[in-house]
Amino acid sequence: MAYEEWHNIPIPLNVTKESKKVLSFRLKGKAYFLASHDNQYYAGYLKCPHAGGDLSRGIILESGEIVCPLHRYAFDLKTGRSKEGFCIEHFPVKVENGNLMIGFKKRGWFNF
Ligand code: FES
Repeated sequence: MAYEEWHNIPIPLNVTKESKKVLSFRLKGKAYFLASHDNQYYAGYLKCPHAGGDLSRGIILESGEIVCPLHRYAFDLKTGRSKEGFCIEHFPVKVENGNLMIGFKKRGWFNF
């Protein structure tokens, strides 16, 4: 799937390398979490799809899952899915020219 719109994540790269925590940021009026695991970055909407828990207060397991602090559902960072059937809306992250970038699908006039 092509991600045609890439935006700068307003978190310096060195901050992510110095921190093991999940971070949060806002972009275009929406809130996201940023996590890293095994030298990969992951981003998704900040609110848990189960009941709105703040995923930036979650923890990352060795298995590559982010655990929501509210009811402890674990979401796979690669797929966004939990065993309970919920799914985080997540986005690709890349490093370009020393900056973290988040990718969005380009929306046409017919997308809502
Ligand atoms: S709000 Fe995240 S698991 Fe319930």
